[in-house]
Amino acid sequence: MKTFDVYPLYNVNIVKGKGCKVWDENGQEYLDLYGGHAVISIGHCHPHYVSMLTRQLNNLGFYSNSVINKLQVELAERLGKVSGYDDYQLFLINSGAEANENALKLASFQNGRKRVLAIDKSFHGRTSLAVEVTDNPKIVAPINANNHVTFLPINDLSAWEKELAKGDVCACILECIQGVGGCNVVDAEFAQGLAAACKKYGTVLICDEIQCGYGRSGRFFAHQWLGIRPDLITVAKGIGNGFPMAGVLISPEFKPVYGRLGTTFGGNHLACTAALAVLDVIEKEHLVENADVVGSYLISELKKMQAKEQHIKDVRGRGLMVGVEMDIPQSEVRKKLIYDQHCFTGGAGTNVLRILPPLILTKSDVDDFLYRLHKVFATFPAEPESC
Ligand SMILES: Cc1ncc(COP(=O)(O)O)c(C=O)c1O
Repeated sequence: MKTFDVYPLYNVNIVKGKGCKVWDENGQEYLDLYGGHAVISIGHCHPHYVSMLTRQLNNLGFYSNSVINKLQVELAERLGKVSGYDDYQLFLINSGAEANENALKLASFQNGRKRVLAIDKSFHGRTSLAVEVTDNPKIVAPINANNHVTFLPINDLSAWEKELAKGDVCACILECIQGVGGCNVVDAEFAQGLAAACKKYGTVLICDEIQCGYGRSGRFFAHQWLGIRPDLITVAKGIGNGFPMAGVLISPEFKPVYGRLGTTFGGNHLACTAALAVLDVIEKEHLVENADVVGSYLISELKKMQAKEQHIKDVRGRGLMVGVEMDIPQSEVRKKLIYDQHCFTGGAGTNVLRILPPLILTKSDVDDFLYRLHKVFATFPAEPESC
């Protein structure tokens, strides 16, 4: 049997990781500003993470959700405290798409409605409802296209209010910093206006924090820069530092009903242990603060570079989620960064380089990255100055 060939692959076999570095099978070292797609939060193979998971695996790898799992209770308490959502409830699943499926399902159970508003260029996953609220017709199969969704421009409050006033909108779903969409940032005026309109019209506000959350923006959640408190918050990626895990944080206004939501693997003993180890390290090493400080440095240095480097057209994002819009294809830049400069980054659309490093990144890693990026830009011919 062969693997189902759905990913265009770089010709690199990564076999080892430590902190912000990874190594291929030939021993070549790479600087990792991609974090395996924003997944690696506390760095590769953190010793505390390895030792907690090893210990747990020697005790119990898995048992079902039909018995008490004190690790889930501990995780809910710890996550509530560190995120500022003590009064919320936690439902655990295995992937980001599953988190959004469950959030949308909960919203619909709550108000009995079916319509969803989402932002142009949004990405919320590849399963049934998650892909329907994703603004990319190429990945929506006919069976997923059920006319539930209206896509609207980011930060255009009056367009959103007009739809909400129809009184039939089940949920609004937002990435406060868009990932696949290219690091476009929701502004505070829009977010606060939208939250108020959602309250007024009985619509559930969902923040998809799967990529921008868990400390990456320099606050625990990206929406916390905006002065809003959504009804539902979805998390994944960084929560397990590579262990497949996701969650929905649920406001106290939602009452649980036996059987409505459920999962075999979600919140299993190993996953909860991974998530507890991640929280230990985030707190002990002050990684949310680090994402803010080092991310601000990265953004300001990139803006300085933009002043001299004509291929950079815009620098946007927050903390350690940064988009560099260029006048050259991101795929070419990424390839040269990997093969010539031994550095991983992400991409978005045609021209945006997406930087998503582990939250332990240092200023000297930033300097190292900028040096490598500069060398790549130097290989692209400059446009002649127009007179
Ligand atoms: C904002 C956002 N939502 C949802 C998802 C889907 O997560 P998963 O691939 O774990 O299903 C992603 C994945 O990239 C994402 O970036």
